[in-house]
Amino acid sequence: MNRENSKEKSRKCLIVYFSRSGKNYVGGQIVDLTVGNTEVVAKTIQEKTGGDLFRIEPVQKYPNEYIATTEVAKEELRTKARPELARSVKDIRSYDLILLGYPCWWGTKPMPVFSFLEGHDLSGKIIAPFCTHEGSGLGQSISDLQETCPKSTILEGIAIRGNDVKNAQGLVTSWLHDIDRAMNT
Ligand SMILES: Cc1cc2nc3c(=O)[nH]c(=O)nc-3n(C[C@H](O)[C@H](O)[C@H](O)COP(=O)(O)O)c2cc1C
Repeated sequence: MNRENSKEKSRKCLIVYFSRSGKNYVGGQIVDLTVGNTEVVAKTIQEKTGGDLFRIEPVQKYPNEYIATTEVAKEELRTKARPELARSVKDIRSYDLILLGYPCWWGTKPMPVFSFLEGHDLSGKIIAPFCTHEGSGLGQSISDLQETCPKSTILEGIAIRGNDVKNAQGLVTSWLHDIDRAMNT
């Protein structure tokens, strides 16, 4: 999967991510992100792996404002909403490894990520999660992922603070090596 690793060249990897641009809470203040934090990491991973990139896009966009978005997201979490997605992955069967990215929202994954996971057959797949956050790390997203995808193998995830996404090259590289190792043992 890692470009440099010849053993993994034949293995197809898909980078699936949800990320929201607009006003967000980063490093203790509200900033207007033209590119979401998780998208920055997803693109770093894409450059390093050469994998295919798929963005999870809900039909109904979230507000541009931070507080308004937290309110919508809180209600979606409370009601276990599964927002409708604009697109799905056409041939999910051709991928062995899914690198799954999301921001931590209310201590877990945003509900559109649940929509994605439940809308695709991920049995037998290896899923490696990466998240961006402001202090909660991966939160309870891993146990939620195991519950949603009981027939997938969930590898160790990484959590990156919003302010660090542009300097996450080293962390991402070592995480990808760990994934290579886990898949080859
Ligand atoms: C609705 C909402 C809920 C959030 N909840 C949390 C949280 O529980 N813990 C945390 O550390 N950060 C939380 N954050 C901050 C985001 O995880 C953080 O800003 C992330 O890097 C945003 O990624 P994105 O730009 O890819 O959407 C929340 C942000 C939003 C908009």
